[in-house]
Formats: sequence, structure tokens, C-alpha cells
Amino acid sequence: MTLPFDGAISRYFREGAPQEVRKAIEEAGKDDILNPAYPYREEMKGKDYDHRMAALQIELAKMQAGLKASGQRLLVVFEGRDAAGKGGTIKAVTENMNPRQAYVVALSKPTERESQQWYFQRYVDWFPALGEIALYDRSWYNRAMIEHVFGFCKPDQREKFFRQLPEFEQMIVEEGIIFRKIWLEVGRAEQLKRFLDREGDLLKQWKLSQIDVDGLAKWDAYCAAIDETMERTHFRHAPWTVILSDDKKRARIAAIQTILAAVDYAGKDAEAIGTIDDRICGGPALRSA
Ligand code: ADP
Ligand code: MLT
Repeated sequence: MTLPFDGAISRYFREGAPQEVRKAIEEAGKDDILNPAYPYREEMKGKDYDHRMAALQIELAKMQAGLKASGQRLLVVFEGRDAAGKGGTIKAVTENMNPRQAYVVALSKPTERESQQWYFQRYVDWFPALGEIALYDRSWYNRAMIEHVFGFCKPDQREKFFRQLPEFEQMIVEEGIIFRKIWLEVGRAEQLKRFLDREGDLLKQWKLSQIDVDGLAKWDAYCAAIDETMERTHFRHAPWTVILSDDKKRARIAAIQTILAAVDYAGKDAEAIGTIDDRICGGPALRSA
């Protein structure tokens, strides 16, 4: 079997990755967390996760019924670097949901015509109607980060984005749409490990892209773009929820708790939801802590 992108990920691991990143991957045990800044040293046990997740799935089902009954609308933006866990987290949210009512918005790069429209326009097309849940796997925030890092937009287009954004998100909230922005934060070694897994696993290879490959060497440029974005877009009316996602299981639980906390629905069971772990879930300050 030939490796996708000609084995570029494993080549980067051997030749391009900073030494501490390579070492962290090489020396880690099966359940070890690679990021030294993460507040836990080991991943959550599968049994504990299954138990918590089963209770949360029931709450999500109640929430979905509640949204339908009350005609509320929910829009959640999932952002994060490549391999931060956006796709898997969204899957955990939608697992037991009616796909007609809860859908994923994962837009590919703008077509030529779309690139001539108002930047936000194609995202608005997918906004939820009454009772619906729209889960964005990446979003308009592409302009602030990935498009900037890769030079897909001009600096003045990005500035215009930052200028229009507060009002754009204000309109979402004022419209009565329940709106949450979740940032999944992954460490450098963990990201590279996930890429290596994807490269070696036929079932995961579709998740790899040229952007992932080329992005490896752009870690620091991403850092700067993310820092700036958090600084400029953490609004009172539309704040970020940051979730440290080096441990996928803890991150999925925190993301679902965050969504459940945003919605009022009949039969809400605070005990089943549990308290959100503030060591891995909070505001943008958590990223640098
Ligand atoms: P993903 O990580 O979402 O699976 P990719 O890694 O291929 O997808 O791309 C990351 C993001 O960058 C996607 O949202 C994609 O639409 C965007 N993107 C890729 N190429 C371009 C481009 N030329 N102009 C604008 N956006 C782009
Ligand atoms: C993720 O893991 O964050 C998403 O599935 C997207 C990706 O990494 O390409």
C-alpha cells in the first residue's frame, strides 16, 4: 500500500519535527497524554467514558426533543487546528440524533462564484430553521486562521472580516439563535501522532489533506493567527469556549456538556450532565495556561 502524500507525514516526523515533539511520541505509553501542559497525564479510562457518555446521549436526545417542541434554533461552531478532534466530537454529538433535525456543515473551499460573494454569505445558507441544530465543522473563522496562514486571502480581506464579525455574530444572537463557539486545542506532538495514525490507517486516510501536510511546518504561524483571533473575537455576546483536546474522551464530554448547558429543555438532569471540568474547559486563557 502506498502512503498518502508519499509518506510526507512520517518523513516530517523523522526529519522536520522538533526534537521534543518526536521524543514525546516515541517515548509515550499507550494511554499517556503527550502534551506536558495538559492537566492529566493519562487518558480517561474507556469504561468511565462510556458510562458518562451514555448519560449525556440521553440528555442530548431530550435536548433535541425540547428544541423541536419549542422551535428554538441551535448553531454550534467547532474550530481548531487540523486533527484537533472536530470531526469526532461532532460525531459524538449527532450519534443518536435525527439527521433531518441535526446536521453538519462542513463546507469545502469557496467556488469561484462564492469567492465573489460576501464572505459570510455561504455560511448563512446553512443557518438552522426552527427546531434545528446546525453543527459547523470549521466556519467563517477560516478567514482569520487557515486562509491567512496559507495566503488564501489578502490582509485587507481579513481585516474586513474582523470588522464585520462582531456585528455578524451579534445578529445571530439577536435573531434568537442559540449560538456557541467551541475551540478545540491540541498540542503539537498529539497532532503529529494523529496525523501519523491517519497516514497508516486506510480507514482514516480520507481525513488527511495537502493542507495538513503543508501545515506541519507552519505551526508557529498558526499560533500567531490563533492568538490574534482569540484576542479579537472573544465577544461578550459571543464568547469562545476553549476545550483542551489532547484527550479526545474528556474533550467530547466537555463539548457535549457545553452544548447542553446552552439549552433549556424539559427534564434536564443536572446530575446526568455533571459538572464541566474547568481544568480542560474554559475561556481563551486556558490555551496559554
Ligand atoms: P479539513 O481539515 O476540514 O478536513 P482541509 O485540511 O483540506 O480540510 O482544509 C482545511 C480548510 O481550508 C477547509 O475548510 C477548506 O475549505 C479550506 N481551504 C482549502 N483550500 C482553500 C483555498 N484555496 N481557499 C480557501 N480555503 C481553502
Ligand atoms: C479534526 O480532527 O479536527 C477534524 O476531523 C478535521 C481534520 O483534522 O482534518
